[in-house]
Amino acid sequence: MLKVYKSSARPSEVSSQALGIFVFEGKIEESLKELEGLGKRVKKQAEHEHFTGKKESMLKVTFPEGPIPRVFLVGLGQESKARIDDYRVAAAIITKAALESHAGELYLYSPKINPPISQALAEGALLGAYRFDRYKTDGRKEEGKRGIDDLYIINGDDDDIERGVLFACGQNYARDLANEPPNLVNPATLAKAAVDLAEDMGLECEIYDEVELERMGMNALLAVGRGSANPPRLIHLTYKPSSRPLKKIALVGKGLTFDSGGLDIKTSENMRTMKGDKTGACVVLGAMRSLVKLDLPMEVHALIGAVENMPSGSSYKPDDIIKTYTGKTIEIDNTDAEGRVTMADVLGFASKLNPSCMVDIATLTGGCAVALGPYRAGIFANDQALCNALLDASSFTGEMLWQLPMDDERLRKRLDSPFADVANSAGRYGSAITAAMFLREFVPEDIPWAHIDIAGVSYYKEPFGYYSSGISGFGTRTILQWLYRLQ
Ligand code: BES
Ligand code: MN
Ligand code: ZN
Repeated sequence: MLKVYKSSARPSEVSSQALGIFVFEGKIEESLKELEGLGKRVKKQAEHEHFTGKKESMLKVTFPEGPIPRVFLVGLGQESKARIDDYRVAAAIITKAALESHAGELYLYSPKINPPISQALAEGALLGAYRFDRYKTDGRKEEGKRGIDDLYIINGDDDDIERGVLFACGQNYARDLANEPPNLVNPATLAKAAVDLAEDMGLECEIYDEVELERMGMNALLAVGRGSANPPRLIHLTYKPSSRPLKKIALVGKGLTFDSGGLDIKTSENMRTMKGDKTGACVVLGAMRSLVKLDLPMEVHALIGAVENMPSGSSYKPDDIIKTYTGKTIEIDNTDAEGRVTMADVLGFASKLNPSCMVDIATLTGGCAVALGPYRAGIFANDQALCNALLDASSFTGEMLWQLPMDDERLRKRLDSPFADVANSAGRYGSAITAAMFLREFVPEDIPWAHIDIAGVSYYKEPFGYYSSGISGFGTRTILQWLYRLQ
């Protein structure tokens, strides 16, 4: 595993297998002046290659005989426009390049390194180095093992670095678990992963199986799992601080270990990547894993409905009417709108814990991706202060969020059912909004609640920035940053 340290070495004194240097556009001198002789030679190369520090540009310069055989220059773009996330992306670009050139050790030097920047650099490096290759048998895995062992951030801040490592490891844990294929991670094995996590981190853990769920009246969660040979589980993890908690937070994650659509079956194109429908759950678990070490003064509960949505003779059906855990009834309009049905029971259960606030995260609607594009998640809330706090955290983590409205009463009417309290789908138009309005039905008005729809951002086919191909783990760091600032 890549370890990250601060270094107090002067850049000109560094002797290492690789050095990464951050450059603002047009300000290469500023980045190289502390490097003395080496700096002059690097500058010549940069001029020759027309490297000026444009955002996301990279130049590799090698000195096979020197004390630093590989120097990587990475562009941050114009200084006045550079944002904190640009540092993460730049750190990821350098880390990937250093990995490719088989460096076992890497130093990072940024001329500007005020506090939060070292957190971002540690995050970018660890996120950028991530890949999901444990099932590759062709030796790539072995090669990966010979990756970077030690990363040094010159003039970094110890606490910032530690937090960056913690947040990125939480996100990488979420990625690892959500990237697991659906033949290996089903509701029971997802629950097992939660049990292992709880044991490792000293969390309380309760798993409810299908028999207990029946007894509890978790009929919505059970209905969605009815068609599968792998029955559902409810996962409940609890973090308790050492002193009397100031607040009680509930985190709820959608844990569809596979979403075939059920009887309203998806097309083969749309079904592909639906192993990722458990990402919300994995993000919640990743956040739980990391928050333990933040030493937070509040109690945090994680609640996950783990379930597989499959078509079969025992599947739940369109027209079914289900009595949920809260007592409210749902008429099924579309079995592919299963996430909200499972979340109805889990949000209801979480509300009974009487939390001071509740945040759920879910790959809920393709409509959210249509509305906001593939790089920004939607956020909905019944409490503007909670929403603002999450938006604020997200502007630091680079996990972009955009608030969508839930105040359109006419749109809400489309969820009315002639036979039950609410229908589970209201058609294509505004589907991210109607899905959020559906969830709202299962949250008491006096509990501040926010819902984050990550359907568009949870899975990337092509790598970019600090994301590899596959699950992004989007949301993990925003939840952690929000909790960290809340204390
Ligand atoms: N898991 C999907 C949403 C999704 C789509 C996640 C694409 C990731 C990528 C969800 O269960 C679903 O199928 N939603 C439907 C709802 C519709 C039937 C009302 C959708 O968004 O099309
Ligand atoms: Mn679905
Ligand atoms: Zn789904």
